[in-house]
Amino acid sequence: MRIDVFTLVPHAYAWLTEQVPVANVLGTELELRLFNYRDTTPLRAGQVDDDPYGGGAGMVLRVDVVDAALDAVYGAEPPARVVALTPQGRQLDQSLVEELATEPAIAVLSSRFEGFDERIVSHLCTDSVSIGPYVLSGGELPAMVLLDAIARRLPGALADGSGELESFSSALDGGLEYPHYTRPAEYRGWDVPDVLLSGDHGRIDAWRREQSRVRSGA
Ligand SMILES: C[S@@+](CC[C@H](N)C(=O)[O-])C[C@H]1O[C@@H](n2cnc3c(N)ncnc32)[C@H](O)[C@@H]1O
Repeated sequence: MRIDVFTLVPHAYAWLTEQVPVANVLGTELELRLFNYRDTTPLRAGQVDDDPYGGGAGMVLRVDVVDAALDAVYGAEPPARVVALTPQGRQLDQSLVEELATEPAIAVLSSRFEGFDERIVSHLCTDSVSIGPYVLSGGELPAMVLLDAIARRLPGALADGSGELESFSSALDGGLEYPHYTRPAEYRGWDVPDVLLSGDHGRIDAWRREQSRVRSGA
């Protein structure tokens, strides 16, 4: 899969690319390309934003700047999914992650300032996605959230089996994962449930599924 991120802060992604699971799939299952709007802006001196029509605080990312960036990379053939990151978009959940992870390529557009000129979202993008009902200062963290969530779903990203029984997975009927414990078995009077120390894998599996159901309110 290829993910193209359009951003004003490409260096912000350096940390993510060194982390598992993204690092595990970069160069094999995942090709990540970072594009800076300033590199292709048709405006002088790297300008990418402008004052909002109608007045008000803050600057708005210009439609001609984003169009030029997309055109420089794709010409007339953008990927089937071009995602604008905005707090006003469809809220990201695991099913949207799975959906996007099946695409051969997606473009992810992040903004800063007051956000996108609305024509970017309505004419240049196929999707608008929010990572939650709160406002961050820029799309870099949302883009990294999306990147990490998609990378986890790609072959080879995780150690065998560790991505199968996760919260929101079909193996747990979309519910929450059961609780985990590790050594010591007793700490300040807080005990690990006996069943997990029993060695009886049938009982352990049944207990975990029940815990998952309880946590999920099922
Ligand atoms: C300060 S925000 C703009 C908020 C916008 N003025 C509003 O009130 O809806 C700047 C940029 O950060 C990104 N962003 C902020 N919060 C986000 C969220 N919850 N989900 C996705 N992107 C977000 C978007 O790219 C957004 O255009």
